Amino acid sequence: MTSSPSHGRKRILSGAKPTADSLHLGNYIGAVRNWVDMQSAYDAVFFIPDLHAITVDFDPAELSNRTRVVAAQYIAAGIDPDKSIFFVQSHVPEHAQLAWALNCITGFGEASRMTQFKDKTQKAGADAATLGLFAYPTLMAADILLYQTDLVPVGEDQRQHLELTRNLAQRFNTRFGETFTVPEATILKESAKIYDLQNPTAKMSKTGESPNGSIQLLEDPKIAAKRIKSAVTDTGTEIRFDLEQKPGVSNLLTIYSSLTGKSVAELEAEYQGKMYGHLKVDLAEVMVDFITPLRNRTNELMADPAELDRLLARGAERAREIASVTLSQVYERMGFLPSLRLAGVR
Ligand code: AMP
Ligand code: TRP
Repeated sequence: MTSSPSHGRKRILSGAKPTADSLHLGNYIGAVRNWVDMQSAYDAVFFIPDLHAITVDFDPAELSNRTRVVAAQYIAAGIDPDKSIFFVQSHVPEHAQLAWALNCITGFGEASRMTQFKDKTQKAGADAATLGLFAYPTLMAADILLYQTDLVPVGEDQRQHLELTRNLAQRFNTRFGETFTVPEATILKESAKIYDLQNPTAKMSKTGESPNGSIQLLEDPKIAAKRIKSAVTDTGTEIRFDLEQKPGVSNLLTIYSSLTGKSVAELEAEYQGKMYGHLKVDLAEVMVDFITPLRNRTNELMADPAELDRLLARGAERAREIASVTLSQVYERMGFLPSLRLAGVR
């Protein structure tokens, strides 16, 4: 394996689809923030899986705009394009190329067992499901294996796709010779789950019932503050973390703790004897202080799309340096006739 990570650090890789007009607070606390923290200790690769975004219904104009906004939000949130390799998946053609090779060593039955595919097909109806949706997991495996990734930080819902990725890596290595690092999943912990502010037993998501239930990272900080202040709380008065009895208050405590670094226990002590209203007013202020700089930086980046595109182009170049080495090994081992382009002439 020639493309091992630099400085002996383990390589991590992750991505989140550009399927909304803005990231929400759950995305930040549950995913992006962890990635930002991991940049120093790991050799990090982050990308926007836009090829995955077209496996379900999409609108072309919306897709390009969302990809730019999400890229800007990642950078604004602290993904440093100098420290990490940060790029857009469709800018690195090796992803689609390796995915094809992996498709050809993946069983039809094996792919049919993916629960995410089954769920999505059930929801959209079998006729709406595409071959692309069926092949979603092998494209994801390609994303991971191209970079000889050691660790993949993802949510629990991606565990099965990671298992498939590991199987494919091992299968390829056994059949064609040692080529891929077999990656480990690092499942992001449950405690970081953020719930809907109006319906605190449901996850905060882009498809929540009420717009007041979620906080979009691009929205006016005053609106975000208002949503915190009008969050549904529970019966009783005590400010205590209890997901069963007090899901609303517990959610606010999780958000508060995540944004300030104070532990939930510290917050419980601080708010002992106080009312829900106190907690909400203070958290609303924390929210404004968090959203304002993030939003300003995002808007600055969006105001200079040429610079943003340049950052992404440089990220894609760095990604291709690694991805092209892996792909050429794969092609060679699978018996494809060497091509001049893969030999380094682009
Ligand atoms: P999505 O845009 O829903 O595919 O989510 C992208 C990433 O954000 C995933 O890694 C999720 O684990 C994380 N995420 C999404 N919603 C939440 C939430 N409500 N709480 C915590 N993490 C979330
Ligand atoms: N499937 C992942 C999700 O929905 C997104 C994704 C695509 C991904 N390729 C990846 C995550 C590679 C980690 C590694 O969240």
